[in-house]
This record gives sequence, structure tokens and C-alpha cells, in this order.
Amino acid sequence: MDENKTSNNEEKKIIFSGVQPSGNLTLGNYLGAIKNWVELQKDYSCIYAMMDLHTITVRQTPADVRRRTFEVLALYLASGIDPKESVLFIQSQNPNHAELGWVLDCYTYMGELQRMTQFKDKSAKHAENINAGLFTYPVLMAADILLYQADYVPVGKDQMQHIEICRDIAQRFNALYGDVFTIPEGLLSKTGAKIMSLQEPQSKMSKSDPNPKAYISMMDDMNVIAKKIKGAVTDSEGVIEYREGDPAKAGVNNLLNIMSAVTGKNVNDIAADYSGKGYGDFKSDVADAVVECIRPIREEYDRIIKDKEYLMQICRDGAEKARYLSSRTMRKVYKKVGFVQL
Ligand code: TYM
Repeated sequence: MDENKTSNNEEKKIIFSGVQPSGNLTLGNYLGAIKNWVELQKDYSCIYAMMDLHTITVRQTPADVRRRTFEVLALYLASGIDPKESVLFIQSQNPNHAELGWVLDCYTYMGELQRMTQFKDKSAKHAENINAGLFTYPVLMAADILLYQADYVPVGKDQMQHIEICRDIAQRFNALYGDVFTIPEGLLSKTGAKIMSLQEPQSKMSKSDPNPKAYISMMDDMNVIAKKIKGAVTDSEGVIEYREGDPAKAGVNNLLNIMSAVTGKNVNDIAADYSGKGYGDFKSDVADAVVECIRPIREEYDRIIKDKEYLMQICRDGAEKARYLSSRTMRKVYKKVGFVQL
């Protein structure tokens, strides 16, 4: 095995990804990320985390962060992530993330961080709290990925800029010190990579949207989910057609993408099924399809979330594995930059 690679399975490539426990997870999080993670378990060595260190870049209620960390884990499990196959852990339980984050801070330029769209958006939204952590957020994210020598990072489109900067940082470090980090690639799902708001389909569906009608929470009741989809903003044209990039069709495109992501059918084939039909029929079928997708996950979630001891045990086992897997990278990095090894 390559000296530089940290792997828990020599043949399989490594996947790393995670979600922040900062709000109720949305259909966007599920279709853009978690749904793919489940499939990737078959062919890759997967590591999935609850990214709590990232959440405090924005003010949080501590009890909510704690509760949501377990909720996110229960949702991973209910979606089909198998703790025997994949490593599941809480980011803050592995101190190597913060340690590597600091080292990489010293190899990242202010100018690159200033260009990050998420930083610009979040600092506009939280003008009273533009903290240094919000600014260096992408560096911590790079550390998350590089610690495990991940080959692929399955995320939604909004995170691709962060994957790019992670690659730049890794390449810069490797150019100085040799082949220390694997250069990761982002993996996008075909149709779920950018699920849009149901009320303003030009913007991303987000768990922090102040209008709950704009997003579907994985925690919503089934009748609420159906109602939100039936109330989704479309247009007055009355034609069900997929026209990518046409702002007038943003609402219909989004519903077609959602339908495609939950059924696996192509967007144009779905649109063809509705030729001559109205938005009412279409929305009602999208609502049914989404409810049928979420219902079994919710049933499983409701069962798992009650078993705190089971969840704790997964976190304990996962943290131990994560520390072990990342310690090799950490030792190597410290050695390369000149820190004394005792
Ligand atoms: P977060 O918690 O905002 O979102 C988790 C995942 O869900 C995807 N996503 C979406 N996909 C499609 N449509 C949407 N509307 C939508 N909204 C969210 C996100 O792209 C993401 O894949 N910075 C990350 C967390 C993180 C991370 C990492 C991810 C920290 N370190 C290392 C991967 C690797 C974030 O805030 O995701």
C-alpha cells in the first residue's frame, strides 16, 4: 500500500462526506447527498460524519446542536447507511479535524477565501457575526476530506466550490512537501444535485429558509409534504416541459428534477407522460412520489431515534475508527512541516 494513503480497505477507494446538524434536514440534503451515499457503500470505503464543528460558524442553541447531531445520524441510518459497512462519527469527536484545519489555514490565502460564494452569502445574512471561523470554514472542510485521503466527496452542487478550494490547498501542500494528500474529486448526483426552493425556485432549497413552505423537511408530516408540493410556485404557461436554464420554467424544472430523483425516471420521459395534462395532476403525482420516498425513511427514523444507547455506541465506535484512520495523515503532516515527533 502507498505509504501516503490512509485506508481501511486496500482495494476500495475512499469516500468522505457529511451534513451539518444545523437545522432540519431537507429533501435537498437527502436527494443531493445522503441518497447517493447509500448506493456508494457497495463499492467504496465510506466515511460519513455529522459536521458539528462547522455549525458554530453561525450562532446556534447548544441543546439543538446536540439533539440534531443524533437526528442526523438517525436519518443516515434510516436512509440505509449501514454502520457495519461505513464509518459514522461526530466531527468534534476526532480532534485531528481541528488540528489539520489549523495547519491548512497557514497554506490558504485570504484572497481565495474571500471569493467563496458561501462566505459572501452567509456574511450578508449574518452581518452581526462575521467571525473568523465563517471565513476559514472551507479550510476546515478541506481538512475533513484530506485527513482520510478521500478519493471522492459526494455532495450537492452548492459545495463544489469548496471541493475546488480543497483540491487547490492539497495540491499546494503536495507541491511543497511531496505526495502527502490524495487529490479528491466531487461527486454530483444526476438529478438531485440542486433541489430548488418550492417558493422561489431560482434559489436553492435550504434548511435555514425562514419560510417553511419553501422546503420539505425530512421531519415533516406526510400531509404537510403533499401540501407543500401542491403549493409549489410554477408559472402561468400551463405546459409541463423540462427547459433547463429557462428562468420562467424554474418551478416546473424543479418539480421534474425532484420527480426524477425519487423515481429514477428521466425528466423528459416524465414530462412526456403529462403532455396535455395540467399542473394540478402533475403536482399531485409528484407529491405522492415524494411521500412514498420519505415515508419508509421516516418510519425507520422514528424507531431508531428512540434508541439513544444504540446511537451513542455507533458514535463511540465511529470516533475511534475515525481517529485511527486519520492519525496517520496527521503524523505525516506534522513531520513534513517540521514538528518534533516524540
Ligand atoms: P450542508 O449541511 O449544508 O448540506 C449537506 C449536503 O446536502 C447538500 N445539499 C443539497 N443538495 C441538493 N439540493 C439542495 N437544495 C441541497 N442543499 C444541501 C449539500 O451540497 C451537502 O452535500 N459544508 C457542508 C458540510 C461539510 C462537508 C465536509 C461535506 C463539512 N465538511 C466535508 C463534505 C465533505 C455543508 O454545509 O453541507
